[in-house]
Amino acid sequence: MCGIVGYVGRSEAAPILLDGLRRLEYRGYDSAGVAIVDGDHIETRKCAGRIAELGKLMAAKPPTGTYGISHTRWATHGKPTDQNAHPHFDASGKLALVHNGVIENYQALKDQLILDGDRNFSSETDTEVLAHLIGKLYDASASEAPAASNGNAAATLPNKKGRLVDAVRAALRQVIGTYGIALVHSDIPDFIVGARRGSPLVLGVGKDENFLASDVSAIVAHTRDAVYLNDFDVVAVERDKFEISSVAGEAGNYQLSKVEFTDADIKKGDYPHYMLKEIFEQPGSVRDAMRGRLSPEECTAKLGGLNMTPAQLRDVGRIVLTGCGTALHAGMIGEYLIEQLAQIPTEVEYASEFRHRNTPMTRDTLVFAISQSGETADTLGALRESRRKGYRTLGICNNVASTIARESDGGVYMHAGPEIGVAATKSFTSQVAILTTIGLLLGRMRHLSTSEGTRIIDALEALPAQIEEVLKLSDQIKAIAKKYASVPGMLFFGRQFNFPVALEAALKLKEITYLFAEGHPSAELKHGIIALVRPDLPSVFIAPDDAVFSKNVNNIEQVRARKGPVIAITSGKGAKHLAKIADDIVTIPNVPDYVSPILTVIPLQLLAYHLAVELGRDVDKPRNLAKSVTVE
Ligand code: M6R
Repeated sequence: MCGIVGYVGRSEAAPILLDGLRRLEYRGYDSAGVAIVDGDHIETRKCAGRIAELGKLMAAKPPTGTYGISHTRWATHGKPTDQNAHPHFDASGKLALVHNGVIENYQALKDQLILDGDRNFSSETDTEVLAHLIGKLYDASASEAPAASNGNAAATLPNKKGRLVDAVRAALRQVIGTYGIALVHSDIPDFIVGARRGSPLVLGVGKDENFLASDVSAIVAHTRDAVYLNDFDVVAVERDKFEISSVAGEAGNYQLSKVEFTDADIKKGDYPHYMLKEIFEQPGSVRDAMRGRLSPEECTAKLGGLNMTPAQLRDVGRIVLTGCGTALHAGMIGEYLIEQLAQIPTEVEYASEFRHRNTPMTRDTLVFAISQSGETADTLGALRESRRKGYRTLGICNNVASTIARESDGGVYMHAGPEIGVAATKSFTSQVAILTTIGLLLGRMRHLSTSEGTRIIDALEALPAQIEEVLKLSDQIKAIAKKYASVPGMLFFGRQFNFPVALEAALKLKEITYLFAEGHPSAELKHGIIALVRPDLPSVFIAPDDAVFSKNVNNIEQVRARKGPVIAITSGKGAKHLAKIADDIVTIPNVPDYVSPILTVIPLQLLAYHLAVELGRDVDKPRNLAKSVTVE
């Protein structure tokens, strides 16, 4: 949800900022802009539309200067117009600011600024109000005592710099809401200020140059040394140094980390889209999710990151899995997995609901917050609420050092590598693989025998090669997508472990093709959904050769009887049977039911992908969406 990049160094800022924005475009693509300080004035280029549009503007009239800030927007307050595009300025026009987040009390702040005589607003955004407020406080401080005498952390900065940092702090103390911000002032050379609360912000530490970004992928081409800022951190950044303090004015602590991936990992390579690349990365990402976590000797899983003793794990009496979107669907499979393998009552909660309702919890409840980005506002809110109430809360995250990862009591990293495509693919299969290892670990501490543990490990270890087999079906699935390219939508059905896969398949289709899609438990068909069945609306059945195969066949027959086309994802003996009654079948390797979602989802990711390409959609940047949803 919006991406920001800042640079201060000796190189021209424009290409660095533009390249950084391109890498953050997955966070929002409604408008984009840069502000680069050139001598005593700020050069701004901004416009509605994609970063490519901004690139054209910058190419036509290149801004020069060696420090600046930039932004790619996912609109919250105000339409995606040129005027609402960031950066925004204060009343003096000397301070430019970019912002990711929502200033909830912006109207009250704006009203006060207007009462004080400031009527010079040119956008509908909450961000511009913050720029005006900081600018006003900074200008007012010119006539006050020098910053060096006020005894706070900005005291080490020379006067103007210290005053600007103080003004940022004073303004942020008035703000209700979330922010990741970066700002420059044309009177203060080679100086950027950043701050965060609720929206991610990372400081990239280079040699004679430093960076700010919403996500390290924006800056990893320049440095892999990073400081992940904490909520309420304010950072003053210069070419050769930086100083971190808090909004309250205390000196801050920080830790320098090494980014675990390289620039090469975030390139598309020969793939036309990130989504396709990420679908094809799944043999490796699923392997990495399990690497070092399976113990064939003890027939169990080893998950040291949970930070729980065997006794504590044995005492878990109830589990709550929470997340949003695709992560929620993985959690729904987790419910089946943990209940089947460990017999621990497990519930799945939409993070957005869980955080605001009074879910009955017992003292022995363990909560897992599942999130690829580790920054999703609702999932973070659920995690905080759960911890506030005293429940042990663990994260299942991909982004190392993300807020959820840092604020949880422990957890399991996915190690899936950067996921750039807005439609989540490899993170889903990694999440399900990890939830299987959690089920295995908890099950082996209870009633699962060594042979059952071994069977589960064997099934997990066989997955990467089986995923390779499924990926070979891409061309067949492409042909199916072509055949159904003019349908008005699709229905998806599955049972047991594959019911959440039906939901996930419907979400993928909606997101990137904009077609209507619904996912349901197969048996629900006859309770209402069957009214939708008609000759031009395909039903996709996820019907592997498992314990409920014959039940799925009944439902397929019910659709066929009403002239509804059927596409079936099946395995084993299912192929022969369904060849006679389905219009199209995709046959995948036959595996135990508890690992089947990791295979069945892949043809459906490919179906959504190929259909979206066929329809000419922007696969990696579907309309209205953003990868990381850091607003409520
Ligand atoms: O980063 P997260 O896993 O917390 O993201 C949760 C959802 O926003 C995400 O899965 C979203 O639904 C995807 N675009 C689905 O493809």
